[in-house]
Amino acid sequence: MQAAGILGTGSYLPEKVVTNQDLEQVVDTSDEWITTRTGIKERRQARPDQATSDLCLEAARQALADANTGPEEIDLVIVATVTPDMMFPATACLVQDRLRASGAAAFDLEAGCSGFMYGLALASQMIATGSLRKALVIGAETFSRIINWEDRGTCVLFGDGAGAAVVGPVPEGLGVLSFYLGSDGEGGKWLYQPAGGSRLPASAETVAGRMHTIHMHGNEVFKYAVRVMEEASLTALSRCGLTPREVDFFVPHQANIRIVEAARKRLDIPPEKAFLNIHRCGNISSASIPLALDEASKAGRMHFGDTVLLAAFGAGFTWGAAVLKWAK
Ligand code: ACO
Repeated sequence: MQAAGILGTGSYLPEKVVTNQDLEQVVDTSDEWITTRTGIKERRQARPDQATSDLCLEAARQALADANTGPEEIDLVIVATVTPDMMFPATACLVQDRLRASGAAAFDLEAGCSGFMYGLALASQMIATGSLRKALVIGAETFSRIINWEDRGTCVLFGDGAGAAVVGPVPEGLGVLSFYLGSDGEGGKWLYQPAGGSRLPASAETVAGRMHTIHMHGNEVFKYAVRVMEEASLTALSRCGLTPREVDFFVPHQANIRIVEAARKRLDIPPEKAFLNIHRCGNISSASIPLALDEASKAGRMHFGDTVLLAAFGAGFTWGAAVLKWAK
């Protein structure tokens, strides 16, 4: 089997910053409430003319340059997102076209905030079995388009942005050592966007009822996320014979500071080994982990050969964890 790992990363955050003080003008909330309950101070918002594919493109171009890879070398483009440009065609196809990655297959992957983890696992396995050589795995969201700006329980949490990784062959012993993916569809009712699909197609009633926005029961999500991020991490680590003590760097999905901190403490990983950008970005779902990886890589937080643990949890419910030997 060919070892597969991350050859390069890229990310993009829209320029517009929305602070907690800005949100105080929109809903009945406070900087103090948002900061203590979520850790978020600000998040980014895409321009009206920017769709998810535009964010993808910026991150993808950076990742290709970082991996010293031309678009013609990419065999597969995966875009993990819950906010595609449109229902179809896939956002990944729009990105494939604009990148001129003419030899690549392309599809979208919808696994909530775990989407990048699912994409990384899939791409690395296809490379391992020789089905393809290089893949571009992107996580991107324009959450600002599906937020109910009258719901203070959700509008303060989410941000827009993109992260991308070029996944390809690496020397034996490096790259993705193991992963673990899971789901529990019973949790679907706690975090969802009710309308716009075949169950409730768009109508005047669904728009008036704000059914095209995020609906969330925060407490249920919170409890499940803490437990599962720990369990998924331990399972992925055990699959490659490692323990949390051997982790050099932890990149958790940036859902909420309390979820991340609870998972980190349960795993007994010291705070200096964990990456946090939630205060600047909010929760960017599928983009969260690739964006964090890119920022951590560029900040020199990960070194060649480091054992890196990734863990995510999201709508579905879905979850995933992966252990990597950093190959850059
Ligand atoms: N500002 C002020 N008050 C608020 C706000 C706000 N923005 N939002 C809710 N409140 C109020 C509620 O109305 C409630 O008031 P009440 O007691 O008078 O009824 C009170 O605060 C407490 O509400 P809770 O929902 O119990 O607050 P909680 O401590 O659970 O925090 C939160 C809410 C932050 C949403 C938390 O449940 C959470 O983080 N859950 C996980 C959410 C998440 O991360 N989702 C995404 C993860 S999965 C994924 O990434 C897709």
